[in-house]
Amino acid sequence: MKICCIGAGYVGGPTMAMIAKQCPDIPVHVVDLNQARIDAWNSDVLPIYEPGLDEVVNEARGRNLTFSTRVDEAIADSDMIFISVNTPTKTFGIGSGRAANLEYVEKCARQIASVSRGHKIVVEKSTLPVRTAEAVKRILFSVSTGATFDVLSNPEFLAEGTAIEDLLRPDRVLIGGESEQAISSLAGVYERWVPRNRILTTNLWSSELSKLTANAFLAQRVSSINAISALCEATGADVDEVARAIGTDSRIGPKFLKASVGFGGSCFQKDILNLVYLCEHFGLQEVAAYWEQVVTMNDYQKRRFAESIVRTLFSTVSDKRIAIWGWAFKKDTNDSRESAAIYVCRDLLRERARLHIYDPQVQKEQILADLELAMSADTGVVSQADRQLLENNVSVEKDCYATANEAHAVVVLTEWDEFKTVDYAKIYTSMLKPAFLFDGRNILDRRALPKLGFEFHAIGMS
Ligand code: NAD
Ligand code: UGA
Repeated sequence: MKICCIGAGYVGGPTMAMIAKQCPDIPVHVVDLNQARIDAWNSDVLPIYEPGLDEVVNEARGRNLTFSTRVDEAIADSDMIFISVNTPTKTFGIGSGRAANLEYVEKCARQIASVSRGHKIVVEKSTLPVRTAEAVKRILFSVSTGATFDVLSNPEFLAEGTAIEDLLRPDRVLIGGESEQAISSLAGVYERWVPRNRILTTNLWSSELSKLTANAFLAQRVSSINAISALCEATGADVDEVARAIGTDSRIGPKFLKASVGFGGSCFQKDILNLVYLCEHFGLQEVAAYWEQVVTMNDYQKRRFAESIVRTLFSTVSDKRIAIWGWAFKKDTNDSRESAAIYVCRDLLRERARLHIYDPQVQKEQILADLELAMSADTGVVSQADRQLLENNVSVEKDCYATANEAHAVVVLTEWDEFKTVDYAKIYTSMLKPAFLFDGRNILDRRALPKLGFEFHAIGMS
């Protein structure tokens, strides 16, 4: 058995590294078109920051784990081919802003079709709209090379920041397919370290739809608690206390009830919009509207947070220095895709604030690129006024102390652990007074910080 994976991103890299670690006898070849990304996978500084990933890669790389750009060779040489390429929201044409862009998946299917000989198992690891496997099969079977294929759906449920733990001890592994033999081949790989009762098998369509549904349910919980956070602020209830009180009901459970400035990441919004598009496609308007509200609520939460900062700072942040702590969409990742920080900062910038940003893992170039993209989202170009704001009002600092010097406010946008142990007395001394502190993640000590002199604001408490 030989495995290859097309796409060396946040899913392809860690997932294949884990398979290679657990199955030392199986050669695993991860390929990507992006040379820089492959070079990084082959270096000491991996392209993604993920706790525990270095150790897993170091154990397997050079033994049975290879990274390269030799896509054709990897396909031809493998018995099982994972497709783990990106499936972003379409930004053009039919379904723009909602449907998944399946261009990269289709290109992979065509490449597999043209290069393959003999029998191959093709595994959809990317998150895909339900019934994509039908299109993949048609493309694969349209060739006349004599090659034969089984197509499986094996969606990935890892969360960034905990990817290694999630891969090591998954709640479940889901395999959808038609051929019992192909399903048991893939299950056999996971069975090396995942208990058999955690490997669920379904038909192809249930597997594809379960992935979108899982993300929609998770995001829905965050939007639900964030909706309640607005009501808490209006009524004097405390959202963390409400979350604890409802989370102890075993039917509700405690996870994914942390109120925040809004969910981010490359998948929640994309997958819900994809679900909405599918529902509309099948004429299920009410179902589409129901799920779309999860995204609408999230946009409201991000906007509401930025507006409350402006209102609290005497209704103007123009020319005020604001320290921004955290850029990643959650802690323990260098990924900033769709991070709430981007949208809060865009709104503050357009109020002409001077932003001094710090994140432990996201690079300065990425932060500037994210802001530029957000500022050009409406029209496709950055206006002259926004360009000036980007050039004159944004600076990225190397630590959080540097951001706070003579700042009017500190705003926490990612729940990095290091923000809990900052010397807040020192921060307070370095700031202008009154010194405002906005906790967009409810991670700071809301009793101790006001005692140091801060005017403290958190989500869902007044
Ligand atoms: P990513 O953008 O980090 O990586 C995708 C990689 O695929 C890129 O490096 C790109 O260069 C490569 N690629 C695209 N087309 C290619 C082609 N034709 N040949 C070779 N390489 C190609 O994306 P990701 O975050 O790893 O997500 C991949 C898929 O997994 C998506 O469908 C996503 O929804 C899903 N997913 C992501 C996560 C997550 O935490 N990021 C979790 C579960 C599922
Ligand atoms: C999420 C799912 O949790 C994974 O199971 C799934 O595989 C993945 O999407 C995917 O398909 O990409 P991820 O986006 O990496 O994983 O991270 P999460 O831990 O789910 O957090 C998503 C966002 O919600 C983050 O911005 C996080 O800060 C926010 N969040 C999460 C909250 O605001 N409150 C919570 O209680 C939980």
